[in-house]
Amino acid sequence: MTELISIKDAPKHVDEEVKMHVWMTDKRSSGKIMFLQLRDGTAFFQGVVLKKNVSEEVFEQAKKLHPEASMYITGTIHKDERSQFGYEIQISNIDVVTNTEGYPIGNKDHGIDFLLDHRHLWLRSKRPFAIMQIRNQAFKAIVDFFEQEGFIKFDAPILMQSAPEGTTELFHIDYFNTDAYLSQSGQLYAEVGAEAFGKVFTFGPTFRAEESKTRRHLTEFWMMEPEMAWMHQDESLDVQERLLQFVTKRILDNCEYELKILGRDPEKLRPTTEGHFPRISYDDAVKMLQDAGRDFKWGDDFGAPDEAYISEQYDRPVFIMNYPTAIKPFYMKKNPDNPKEYLCADVLAPEGYGEIIGGSERESDYETLKKQIEEAGLNEKDYEWYLDLRKYGSVPHSGFGIGFERYLGWICKLDHIREAVPFPRMINRLQP
Ligand code: 4AD
Repeated sequence: MTELISIKDAPKHVDEEVKMHVWMTDKRSSGKIMFLQLRDGTAFFQGVVLKKNVSEEVFEQAKKLHPEASMYITGTIHKDERSQFGYEIQISNIDVVTNTEGYPIGNKDHGIDFLLDHRHLWLRSKRPFAIMQIRNQAFKAIVDFFEQEGFIKFDAPILMQSAPEGTTELFHIDYFNTDAYLSQSGQLYAEVGAEAFGKVFTFGPTFRAEESKTRRHLTEFWMMEPEMAWMHQDESLDVQERLLQFVTKRILDNCEYELKILGRDPEKLRPTTEGHFPRISYDDAVKMLQDAGRDFKWGDDFGAPDEAYISEQYDRPVFIMNYPTAIKPFYMKKNPDNPKEYLCADVLAPEGYGEIIGGSERESDYETLKKQIEEAGLNEKDYEWYLDLRKYGSVPHSGFGIGFERYLGWICKLDHIREAVPFPRMINRLQP
């Protein structure tokens, strides 16, 4: 019996006759030979139909195929050094399932709005294919990393009454006549998890009603938020460094084909020398900007161009540590050596990509945290359960959040992170 295989497995079946179910993305013909561009969700490759190798009926049928026609094919796998995938199939039979006309996405340069309007179809194209495969590998690698480090996955709710990252960017919901919000961060719940299980991570959709139309803002994005009991900020930075190294290595090892499709030079993701990610203070970063003649005042938050400038100075991710308290959220722990700043850090990705991780040590003292909640203008009642964590068995603890699409934006060298998620949500986009 001829084996049914996927395109990805073709290299294991050279010179064998195989069967596949595929879609045709494009077709070229020159008289007695036809080249079908095929995909099956695992890879893209070429099928060659030679008039002399197939029946008259099959050849005539192949001539009539339109993009996105679906079919079973039978044929023999050959090496094809010239192609991106490296293999092709010499087709001996085609069994058409559906043939359709008028597929809206072609080889021409469609504008981004057209492509986003057709995201439900665009996802079948090569570039989104490569990005989504890398997203999948990155997700699996993150899960493997945390498992290896003794974390458990701990789910935070999506509907909540707290506003961990400030009240200006909340999506409000009328929840049976009370106010509720879509989650801005699962962190406060991850802290519950850390006190119950030691080391946990959440992974879920996160919502920010940010009116920012930049290449790195989505209104719905995915965030992975690890939280570690008994861990101080410097140890949390070690975890972040190991995590980024682990996941990036996995992508370099497993996604060579996808990076090639994206035209992403893997060498840019490999630091040229051994060594840790640099750790510089907010003060150092401010000085760096000012020395470069940029208009930046101590106490301001970095804008995207500032972060781009700083991150371009390094060949690997860089930690910016200890921001002024006024520009960071209430739950962070103040630096005992300088109460004007928090024990926190953001990670900036190289090549100008800017912030991909934000994290901190958390305030673990009951009275101090209560005061910080008050000073942030939040309603203490909504945080009673959170304060309980400091009332009973409080320990030093730290955590961070990695913006999944931001990380992928850097790995895949995207112009805009909207390409890093299957169905991007932005101020003016809720469809498809
Ligand atoms: O710095 P943020 O706001 O930190 C938190 O939410 C903390 N509670 C995390 C924690 O300590 N557990 O967001 C964390 C990361 C950012 O570094 C960025 O990568 C990403 O989330 N992010 C966004 N990604 C896409 N679109 C947006 N609008 C984003 N806002 C933040």
